Amino acid sequence: MWLIVIKEDNNIERGGEKTKMNNFAVKTTNLVKVFGNVVAVDELNLEIPFGQTYGLLGPNGAGKTTTVRMLNAIIRPTAGTATVGGFDIITQSRDVKMICGFLPESPGLYQKLTAKEFLEFIGELYYLPEDRIASRVNELLDIFDLEGRENDLLEGYSRGMKQKVCLCAALIQDPKIIFLDEPTSNLDPAAARMVKDLISVLAKKADKTIFICTHLLDAAEELCDKIGIIDKGALKVQGKPKEIIESQSAKDLEDAYLKIIGATHIDDLLAWRDEKNMNNHIPKKKKQKK
Ligand SMILES: Nc1ncnc2c1ncn2[C@@H]1O[C@H](COP(=O)(O)OP(=O)(O)O)[C@@H](O)[C@H]1O
Ligand SMILES: [Mg+2]
Repeated sequence: MWLIVIKEDNNIERGGEKTKMNNFAVKTTNLVKVFGNVVAVDELNLEIPFGQTYGLLGPNGAGKTTTVRMLNAIIRPTAGTATVGGFDIITQSRDVKMICGFLPESPGLYQKLTAKEFLEFIGELYYLPEDRIASRVNELLDIFDLEGRENDLLEGYSRGMKQKVCLCAALIQDPKIIFLDEPTSNLDPAAARMVKDLISVLAKKADKTIFICTHLLDAAEELCDKIGIIDKGALKVQGKPKEIIESQSAKDLEDAYLKIIGATHIDDLLAWRDEKNMNNHIPKKKKQKK
């Protein structure tokens, strides 16, 4: 085991009392978010049990980021309700923030801090004891291969390195529920592989609930127990990757996804070529001069 895991308990201590969580890590009921004329999330109903790795897929602008921002109590829903770890995202937003780790899509970093200072600061926000912060920061810097650069200012970090620091920040308090919005964007193939392996270890060995928004369908197929595909804020399909593939008679998740979201756009893009073929209008290749 390469990550220290804080005690697992389905009961969260609050004000000396223990509040029993409901059976779901994430439960949304007719969740809606409207921005002006845009319905970003449209009556979304999700039930994600503890320990599950859930992938939310969908095209750009489908409402994935808006959903995770609501679930992390960063923005308030227009209508509907949701609980995360049994806590209401509106009335118990502080509890929600304490038990969740969140990698935002476009995270803000304090550029004039070093990676170490930034992570120590995040650890303090979660009221972690000083010695625990020190050991956890060292552990995460080691896992993410940032050792040796920890005392450099973040402004000098590459985008991929910043992404790694944000992943460290999302994991600092060893959260029970982890939200990752496009976790492998900006990462090189080796770092992306490492993050996928990390997600797999967190899910399988550390029994975390992981909620991933991603465009990477092969990663989703590999990592997720269950997948939801949304378009225009509404859930189109939900199920195990295998079930979704079978239901669409598709060869893999990418094929199934394109069938659900509508690959016709791609056909439209290429339609002009067929027309030209039919009318024999494609100009013949000029002979290349030697
Ligand atoms: N703060 C905002 N103000 C106005 N519109 C927004 C805001 N955030 C998101 N949207 C709109 O909501 C829709 C869903 O966006 P988003 O949740 O970012 O989609 P995704 O993450 O799936 O790409 C888009 O049409 C987007 O323009
Ligand atoms: Mg997004």
